[in-house]
Amino acid sequence: MSDHWPQEIEDGLIPTDNAMGIMTREPSPAAEAFIALAATSRRPLLEVGAAYGNATLPALRAGGTIVACDLSASELQILGESAPERDRSRLVLMPARFPEELHFAEGSLGGILAAQVLHFSEGPTVERAFADAWRWLEPGGKFFVVVMTPSLSYYSKFRAEYEARAVRGDRWPGIFNPRDAATPEWKDRLPTMVNLFEKDVLGRCAREAGFEIEVLEYFCFRQFPDKHRTDGREFLTMTARKPA
Ligand SMILES: C[S@@+](CC[C@H](N)C(=O)[O-])C[C@H]1O[C@@H](n2cnc3c(N)ncnc32)[C@H](O)[C@@H]1O
Repeated sequence: MSDHWPQEIEDGLIPTDNAMGIMTREPSPAAEAFIALAATSRRPLLEVGAAYGNATLPALRAGGTIVACDLSASELQILGESAPERDRSRLVLMPARFPEELHFAEGSLGGILAAQVLHFSEGPTVERAFADAWRWLEPGGKFFVVVMTPSLSYYSKFRAEYEARAVRGDRWPGIFNPRDAATPEWKDRLPTMVNLFEKDVLGRCAREAGFEIEVLEYFCFRQFPDKHRTDGREFLTMTARKPA
């Protein structure tokens, strides 16, 4: 938590400044695993969609060297201002679009976190993200992912359509316009496309890129407004490992 972060719009939810939803105050399970890896990794770690730093700041505190990437340069500026002096020499801020605008040497990263990011990309871009992450990671390196499911909040209105598309074999059954479901006060905080995931689709992305799946589980944050909860399967967390 940082004094520099914008005011929460609902309990634990901090608005992004580019209509890309919210950053949670509470780090996700994938972020916790990323932070733990930062304490021991000999190589730098990458966080994409780092926003104001709910995962990057504790990962720095744990001793990691972190490249923090986000589409929003102004969110990254706040992240940089929030980092204590002792951690700043191990923080690289990278305003860029993942994966297209990022370039790392093969095997150069110990871990990558993409928490609540991939669900804003079309299917082929998600596949490229997994392929690039696999190449950039060292053998044994880990890709930590959090995505939204059709159980989250307003998106539960899309579940029947998601399931109908999945039954007919659509490769990407989760493409919707979130503004079709959100309430007026949320509409302008969301983009015009989301790609919602269920376990089978996220697992397929990881396996097809060559990862071994260590964790693939549903969860909801402990601090999360009741009005956005449905059945406890609001999010998916994944840890995928590049074989050593
Ligand atoms: C919903 S917020 C999530 C923030 C934080 N990772 C969390 O889990 O709470 C999504 C963030 O990802 C960024 N983002 C979305 N798509 C991106 C992309 N393709 N490349 C880099 N950043 C992206 C947005 O600008 C926004 O700051």
